[in-house]
Amino acid sequence: MTDTTTQVREHYNATNLASRLKVALATIAAEDQTLRIDQLAPLDQFHTRGILATAELAATAGLEPSTRVLDLGCGIGGPARYLAATFGCRVTGVDLSPSFIDSANYLTGRCGLSDRATFQVGDALHLPFEDGAFDAVFLQHVAMNIADRSSLYAEVRRILAFGGRFATYDLVLRDGDVVYPVPWARDSSTSFLLSEGDTPKTLEQAGFKAVVWRDDTQAALDWFKAAMAGPPPSGPNLSTVMGPDFQIMTRNLARNIRENRPGVLSAVLTPH
Ligand SMILES: C[S@@+](CC[C@H](N)C(=O)[O-])C[C@H]1O[C@@H](n2cnc3c(N)ncnc32)[C@H](O)[C@@H]1O
Repeated sequence: MTDTTTQVREHYNATNLASRLKVALATIAAEDQTLRIDQLAPLDQFHTRGILATAELAATAGLEPSTRVLDLGCGIGGPARYLAATFGCRVTGVDLSPSFIDSANYLTGRCGLSDRATFQVGDALHLPFEDGAFDAVFLQHVAMNIADRSSLYAEVRRILAFGGRFATYDLVLRDGDVVYPVPWARDSSTSFLLSEGDTPKTLEQAGFKAVVWRDDTQAALDWFKAAMAGPPPSGPNLSTVMGPDFQIMTRNLARNIRENRPGVLSAVLTPH
């Protein structure tokens, strides 16, 4: 593991997270009650536009019960649980952060989905899967932490089956430097946004062609505006995971997008 990867893992290392989640969730449901996906959404969809973005990307990717899905950089498993619950497919989640994987397993058990969504610690650049092992790979708000984008996309290409789908949702660099801290990095040492022009080129060089390419920047701005107009979330939310300064990180992210420093892009691609 490189020094940078270790630093990224530290950024997402949340001490005693599964126990803290257990305590926080007691405010919305008793421990023996099955939790619904929508109850966890303020907490477990760790990307701009939350569950809305996952639902849109999944609809575009065209999943079926038989689709073998990998959620790469799965966080605490919200997107993977959404996909398993909505489409009935089997989802494997991989993430660098051991505390996130522990929490993903705990929350998935609470949702009664452990037979369809499983999680393991791993590095997106060195995946422990055979060539062509998955029919769909999801990568939501992860690539921004990975400097070697060519190797990342080549690894996704390797594990995708013929005719598979790569669904990616990320920030792309536009005009100026990012103001830190942001949800994925406290400073520039673990932030690796690729420019809007280089992103499609790098994907193409890794062997992908686009099926759908969508600029979600305006949708992201609208979502932040609506979120900031209301009161702060009262129940368990992403601050429970990332700590009290998550609010500042989120405000900076909204500001960065408003000032057109990064844009927000989603795409579904297929190997060519
Ligand atoms: C902003 S969170 C997004 C989590 C999840 N995709 C979601 O949308 O809810 C970024 C995640 O990427 C993971 N990550 C970053 N670099 C990674 C790598 N090289 N391999 C695996 N996971 C990585 C982090 O640990 C973190 O959980």
